[in-house]
Amino acid sequence: MMDRLSGPPRLMIVSDLDFTMVDHEDPENLSLLRFNSLWEAYYRQFSLLVYSTGRSPTIYKQLRKEKPLLTPDITIMSVGTEIAYGESMVPDSDWEQCLNLNWDKDIVTQETAKFPQLIPQSDTEQRPHKVSFFLEKPNSSEVIKALSECLEKRKLDVKIIYSNGTALDVLPKGAGKGQALAYLLRKFKANGRIPLNSLVCGDSGNDAELFTIPEVYGVMVSNAQEELLQWHAENAKNNPNIIHSSERCASGIIQAIGKFSLGPNVSPRDIKDFGKCRVNVFSPGYEVVNFYLFYERWRRAEVEKSDQIFQNLKSSFYPLGTFVHPCGTEQPMKKCTDMMERLYGDKQGKQYQIWLDRVSTSQIGSDSWLVKFDKWESTGEERYCCLTTVLLTTKEDGRIIKTGDGSLAQVLEEKGYTAISAA
Ligand code: GLC
Ligand code: MG
Repeated sequence: MMDRLSGPPRLMIVSDLDFTMVDHEDPENLSLLRFNSLWEAYYRQFSLLVYSTGRSPTIYKQLRKEKPLLTPDITIMSVGTEIAYGESMVPDSDWEQCLNLNWDKDIVTQETAKFPQLIPQSDTEQRPHKVSFFLEKPNSSEVIKALSECLEKRKLDVKIIYSNGTALDVLPKGAGKGQALAYLLRKFKANGRIPLNSLVCGDSGNDAELFTIPEVYGVMVSNAQEELLQWHAENAKNNPNIIHSSERCASGIIQAIGKFSLGPNVSPRDIKDFGKCRVNVFSPGYEVVNFYLFYERWRRAEVEKSDQIFQNLKSSFYPLGTFVHPCGTEQPMKKCTDMMERLYGDKQGKQYQIWLDRVSTSQIGSDSWLVKFDKWESTGEERYCCLTTVLLTTKEDGRIIKTGDGSLAQVLEEKGYTAISAA
């Protein structure tokens, strides 16, 4: 996982998912898509994205099918009791070993059974190091207190966490989102790869621990739960590195990046007029993200259809380039641009969205880059992914390097077509 980066990550974002990265009240996923294009344009190459969720692997995977979530470098699941690396999610078995210390799930099951107020959650959410219940808010503190006394009597070191005013998790004492992050930071330190900056993001009780880790910045999103805000008021009020954003969910994360000056904080999605935009740093990731944003707006008829815009776009494609379709057929570039011209507005009024994931760039010459990424397109429920490769070159006068206003050069090949329809 860390081999992807040649040095320490510039920024590590550790974010909760439900109501932090993902806004379940935003059916168009606008704030998540704003974050996605910011991350892929500027951060993917040198930074680390870590999700830290209460969800088990089963329902984490469900969420990934339902929402346009980027592929993280590390996934921490089941309230910090399971850590997995990379796209293939290789589990960290050392961490699971650590958690066996003074843990006995049977004792937890026996003691919790004595409390009729504790309603067991579904089987998928019961994990080797996590036993989970629903518990109603009134009297919840009394129940938690009594339960912790029972478990103490049985000489078990546990951690009891109450979240969202509904969920109660019992974990080994050394587990939890904060402990899992501390473990990762120790691992990075041992390899000389401590991130230059880290930002933790959360909204509910099980996220509180994330904000206790030394030397990390933190954002409680505007929609944070009462239990987290109360924890903050009692324990971390004077820490200037923790903010309560005024924006919801992923937009609150972007706000924190700006507030703590952690890097670029203008999402390419917020730029309405690409022609006027000037970026100081040439970033191949930015160029491809921007191109597909233009393409999305073109098909939604949200950009003007003028000959000039189209001629500009055409001139940025390599005239002799070849487009290789996923099915293997080849097309001259001109045919593709003609096709694009015809597609103007065909998605007008539809929920048509494009986002890129896993943008990876390699410089192959003094002025050329190969950029590979997953290009996702969705119209309502249906979504498609194409593994796409683009060869990007700067124009001879070096205009792109100076101003970043050039767009994509040549689309060489597209392969690996898969269709996924969200559940
Ligand atoms: C997620 C998990 C659930 C847990 C809750 C709070 O919703 O699915 O098991 O209780 O987070 O941590
Ligand atoms: Mg949450």
